[in-house]
Order: sequence, then structure tokens, then C-alpha cells
Amino acid sequence: MEKTFLMIKPDGVQRNLIGEIVSRFEDKGFKLAGSKLMQIPTELAEKHYGEHSDKPFFGELVEFITSGPVFAMVWEGENVIATARHMMGKTNPQEALPGTIRGDYGLTVGKNVIHGSDSPESAAREIDLFFEEAQLVSYDKND
Ligand code: CMP
Repeated sequence: MEKTFLMIKPDGVQRNLIGEIVSRFEDKGFKLAGSKLMQIPTELAEKHYGEHSDKPFFGELVEFITSGPVFAMVWEGENVIATARHMMGKTNPQEALPGTIRGDYGLTVGKNVIHGSDSPESAAREIDLFFEEAQLVSYDKND
């Protein structure tokens, strides 16, 4: 079954949005396969956002994602990668539609509440960066 990596960013954790956001994905029908509240070390943040290392906002991005605890998650379900991206809304909360997570809760392109993998390759890479195999469960047998 398809898996994706989602992460509630420091602004979302600080604003007590973990429960609300987890509920949205549960209500949609996806299954939580792993989760942890954690402080991201700088080295991990730089690896996670490696594809943005040449962007002018890279320093700001790493500084923000390491500024407080994040809630890292793996979610499982059919087409979960693309569907979760739809549910998150556009990267810039000013363009994200109401009803999406960023449209309802995001403030700025940096403080946009949630990160989600954008492709199967990113999902595999990001899950591997944040979780060990033994920290994940599968619901396949319970469906
Ligand atoms: P995310 O989905 O976590 O992936 C990369 C992040 O870069 C993105 O969400 C935004 O939060 C952030 N980002 C994109 N553009 C900018 C920008 N111009 N300034 C600061 N952060 C940005």
C-alpha cells in the first residue's frame, strides 16, 4: 500500500493543531503507520530539504524547521501521496483554498503548517530519513 511522509511544522505544533490535522487524514480514510514528536537536528533538516540547498531561503527554511518540535508522520492508503497534497493546499497559504489545511491555518509561505512528500521517490527518501522500519506498522492485514 502507498505511503507518504507528512510533518506538522513548528508553527502547527505550537498552535496545538496536531489533533485537528491528524483527524483530517483519519476522517479521509488513511491509516497512521508511524509518528513521533521530535526536535529536528540541523544535519537532518539540511538533508531533508537538500533539493532547496541552492535557494535563497534555504537558511531560513532550516532555521525555522529546527526552531521547535515537529510532528513527523507516515500515512498509508490508496493514492495517499497526491491526495494528502490536495488536502494540504498550495505551498503559499495566500493561494491555498479554504478547506485545505494551509488555506485554513497557514500564515506565510515559510510558516505553512505542514510538509508532505511530493512524489513516490520523495516519500521513500523522507520516510527513510525520519523512521526506522521497526517504527512503522502496516494495516494491510486489518483492511
Ligand atoms: P515544504 O512543503 O515544507 O517544502 C519546502 C518549503 O520551502 C515549503 O514547504 C515552504 O515552507 C518553504 N518555502 C518555499 N518558498 C519559500 C520562500 N520564498 N521563503 C521561505 N520559505 C519558502
